[in-house]
Amino acid sequence: MAALARSVLVTGCSRGIGLELVQQLAASPRPPQHIFATCRHPQGPGGKALQELAAQHSSIKLVQLADTVNLPSIQGAVRAVGYHLKDQGLNLLINNAGISSRATLHSLDSQEMLNVFATNVVGPLQVVKEFLPLLEQAAKGTRKEGLSCSRAGVINISTKLGSIGLCLRVPEAPMYPYRASKAAQNMVTRCLAAELQDKGILCCAIHPGWVKTDMGTEQALLTVEHSVRGILTVLASLSQDSSGAFLDWEGNSLPW
Ligand SMILES: NC(=O)c1ccc[n+]([C@@H]2O[C@H](COP(=O)([O-])OP(=O)(O)OC[C@H]3O[C@@H](n4cnc5c(N)ncnc54)[C@H](OP(=O)(O)O)[C@@H]3O)[C@@H](O)[C@H]2O)c1
Repeated sequence: MAALARSVLVTGCSRGIGLELVQQLAASPRPPQHIFATCRHPQGPGGKALQELAAQHSSIKLVQLADTVNLPSIQGAVRAVGYHLKDQGLNLLINNAGISSRATLHSLDSQEMLNVFATNVVGPLQVVKEFLPLLEQAAKGTRKEGLSCSRAGVINISTKLGSIGLCLRVPEAPMYPYRASKAAQNMVTRCLAAELQDKGILCCAIHPGWVKTDMGTEQALLTVEHSVRGILTVLASLSQDSSGAFLDWEGNSLPW
């Protein structure tokens, strides 16, 4: 089986789904040549698991991204990644970093709502904007036709809690900030898919399932290993037809 992509960047790799994406990509039979794992403080205690992983796999490069809404920090990450890639561009960007909020109509306050929107909507979009020249370089520099993660792609880790179509059927607490932010992120994904298609860049939203992480809690149904194995299988199957899709970790299509 071919490598998913020559180069992959994942945001929010200190723990949870991001850390497991890096782990499984590095341990795959045909690992990407470059796995850029971003983390707020790669050399701090929060980056310890990632440091240990990077010590075992030379393909993993730790990149500091102090905050996905901090523009100078993103630009520093772009420079660090560009330095490693020389002139080959970045094939795959996975916007994984995110925060949750369980605020209900009664408990929410505007600052919390704005923080969640900043991290889950503004951050990923800024990251795409700043990495776009590297993604375009990858899309142009290949002989591959059509769209795929191995050519150039943006994957936004979403959630079915952000699906407006499913909302009336999902019994969980309203979680206004989180659900509204992920619905907004889904619109960003659709806009990016439409705008970047002609540049040879695929864009998709992926729901990882309800996963046992700090965010998903121990009560979640899926282990992080299971969810990420599914996500990577789905990513390898994406093509022209799936750009602009909203899929779950098993490849099932979800309503927006
Ligand atoms: N777990 C689930 O059941 C579930 C379900 C659906 C969707 N998702 C989505 O999956 C993604 C990953 O979730 P997870 O469960 O792995 O969460 P997690 O265990 O809470 O990890 C979140 C990661 O995002 C990073 N992060 C958060 N805000 C950031 C910011 N402003 N700038 C940079 N990094 C930031 C965190 O870094 P620090 O360690 O430095 O805080 C951490 O690495 C999220 O987008 C989430 O919405 C999760």
